[in-house]
Parts: sequence; C-alpha cells; structure tokens
Amino acid sequence: MKNILITGGAGFIGSHVVRLFVNKYPNYNIINLDALTYAGNLKNLKDIEERSNYTFIKGDICDTEQIRSIFLKYDIDAVIHLAAESHVDRSIKDPFSFAKTNVLGTLNLLQAAKEYWSNNIKDKLFYHISTDEVYGSLTDTGLFTEQTAYDPHSPYSASKASSDHFVRAFKDTYKLPAIISNCSNNYGAYQFPEKLIPLFINNICNNKPLPVYGTGENVRDWLYVEDHASAIDVIFHKGEIGETYNVGGFNEWKNIDLIKVLIKTVDRFLERKEGTSEHLISYIEDRAGHDYRYAIDASKLKNELGWSPSLQFEEGIEKTVQWYLENKEWVEEITTGKYQDYYKDMYANKNPI
Ligand code: NAD
Ligand code: TYD
Repeated sequence: MKNILITGGAGFIGSHVVRLFVNKYPNYNIINLDALTYAGNLKNLKDIEERSNYTFIKGDICDTEQIRSIFLKYDIDAVIHLAAESHVDRSIKDPFSFAKTNVLGTLNLLQAAKEYWSNNIKDKLFYHISTDEVYGSLTDTGLFTEQTAYDPHSPYSASKASSDHFVRAFKDTYKLPAIISNCSNNYGAYQFPEKLIPLFINNICNNKPLPVYGTGENVRDWLYVEDHASAIDVIFHKGEIGETYNVGGFNEWKNIDLIKVLIKTVDRFLERKEGTSEHLISYIEDRAGHDYRYAIDASKLKNELGWSPSLQFEEGIEKTVQWYLENKEWVEEITTGKYQDYYKDMYANKNPI
C-alpha cells in the first residue's frame, strides 16, 4: 500500500490527477490536501469523493504543524505537489500571496518530507509540478528544453522558479528524492473561468466581450489536461529520481487564432451562423510583462519514458467546449460564489485531521 499526498487536488489539474490515481490505483491511499482558496472546488471531485481509497483534508501547505501531522498520521510515502497560486494576472496584482504559497508553502512541504523520511528514504518521492513559464519567453523560433536557463518574468513564474530551485536544493543538499516536471498551458474540464479558454467559452455563450491582450499575436503551447495527468502518472512511476521532464504536446497557437477556433466551435454547438460571435473580439491594453511565446520540447519524456499526448487539439477543444456547455451550472456556481458552500455541507464536520 502506498500513501500518496496530493496537494491542490481540488483545483483544475489536481482534480484530474486525483481522479486518475483514485480510479487506476485502488491499492494506493490518496490524501488530497487543499486549502480551498477561490480556485479550489470540491465539486470537481464529486464522482470519487466517497471512494474508500480517497481522503480529503482542508488545509494550507504553509501550516507547518498541520503538514507534519499529516505525514505522521497517514505515513506518507510520496508527495505530488500541485497546490499553488496559478494565475498570472492575479500575481501582477498581488505578488505576495504567490511568494507565500508557491515558495514558502513548497519549502514547508519539502522540510516536512525531509524530516519524516530522514530515517528511510527508500521508495520515497517528492514530485513537484511546475510550469514552462519558468524558462521565460521565446522569440519566433526555438523550444524550451530541460537545459534552458531559467528566466521568469511574471511574479507567478518567478515564484514557481523559486520553488523549483528549492526542490533541487533539497535534492542536492539533503538527498531528498525529488522529480520536477515543467508543463505547457493546460486546457479542459474544470478549469477556473479566469484563464483564457474557459473564460472565452463562457463569454461567447453569453455574448460578452472577449478581452484580447495586446495584439493577440502571443503564442502558447496547449495540452489537454487529461494528457498532463497521464504524463504525471508516467513520470511518478517511471521517472528517474533527480531528473526534470518537460511536458507538452508540440501544439503552438497564436492567441487570436485559438480564439477564432473557440468562436467557431461554440457558435456551431449553439447552432449560430458561422462568424456570429467574431464581433465580440475586443483588443485591450496588453498584460504587463506579457511573455511573447512559450513552446515546449517534450522529446525527453517521449524518448525516455514513452509518453505522448493521446488527443489531437481539435478533438480536445471539441470535448472542452462540449463539457462547458453541458456543465453551465458548474460555471454559474463559480460566478455566483455558491461553489464554496459545498465544503460546508459535505465535509466541514468530518475533516480527518
Ligand atoms: P488551480 O489554481 O486551478 O488550483 C490550485 C489549487 O491549489 C486549488 O485547489 C487551491 O485551492 C489550492 N491551493 C492554493 N493555495 C493553497 C495552499 N496554500 N495550501 C493548499 N492548497 C492550496 O491551478 P492549476 O491550473 O490546477 O495548477 C496546478 C499546478 O500545476 C500549479 O502548481 C501550477 O503552477 C502548475 N501548472 C499549471 C499549468 C496550467 O496551465 N494551469 C501549466 C503548468 C503547470
Ligand atoms: P492564461 O490562460 O492566463 O495563461 P498564461 O498567462 O499562464 O499563459 O492566458 C493565456 C494567453 O491568453 C496569454 O497570452 C494571455 C492571453 N489572455 C488574453 O488575451 N485575455 C484574457 O482575458 C486572458 C485571461 C488571457
């Protein structure tokens, strides 16, 4: 039996990772630790919440005593660390909360793992989930490899870069068994509707303006979230201790071209005439420090661990648009704030720590 602590499991990517592990590995105990910030939503895990190999704990990765007691009580063998503040625009407005959660929270987890595993590090693993944004911004050519020097620009990417450095420092200084993966932009079901794809799908449905930052020429490399979860599964089980793996689908899109695909797809699903919603495009002031281009070289992951994405982008976008249209209530509960009551009804009196 393996006891795996997944942090941030009530968020977008974390909920897909939790679901995958709970379903695929009935012999693992999955402990999901999440602070339920604005980005955490237990409805994301409604289908697996009663499973016997799953425990939810509401808690903050910055809380040293709570983290220590979780390691002890659940005899944690491995950590998959996803909890973070994750939105660049919020980091521009409030860099401190990013430094606190992403840097100090990660450090707190590392320290607890180091202490708890100090007598026996055999088969232990601290797996840190990070972003390609730590590498900075590319011009029109080239790809980020695992050797690309760190050059973060936003407070978000600076905080993630710092957390990556702390993970490597613990690996080098204390021999903590650690792996890092750096992934490109994710999309899919359960993404908080502040990020480009879910925000724009929702706005197209509701005939609201689509705020395109700057010229819309910026490039992002998109990966379907379930493919990221499958990469995390592969890296967790087959990755080499001490290594870093870049995760991506070789799928670059200029924002404006992607937005046009979204408009076309949503309009078709809603049986509107092609091009109906194009007038919603609204160019606005650019994001401060807006990185021009991200693009990941994921060939190490493919060549060494045999992982490749399963979905073509067109199929992923179809599935994603369909999911948001069929789950309007999920979005509405977020826009009204109602989603945050779910914890009180479901878990408040049975928090297991
Ligand atoms: P998210 O914002 O959807 O979810 C983050 C989760 O962490 C939420 O459930 C939130 O409640 C929880 N959390 C925040 N602060 C916490 C704290 N102090 N203690 C405990 N829990 C806390 O984020 P996401 O998009 O799912 O990203 C997950 C991870 O993957 C992050 O580390 C992010 O940097 C990384 N990542 C994201 C992307 C992407 O495109 N979204 C790409 C690459 C890497
Ligand atoms: P986002 O989803 O915030 O991810 P990230 O900033 O981490 O890449 O944004 C994706 C791209 O879309 C990015 O270039 C910024 C741009 N964008 C807009 O043009 N308008 C918006 O309202 C948002 C949220 C993003």
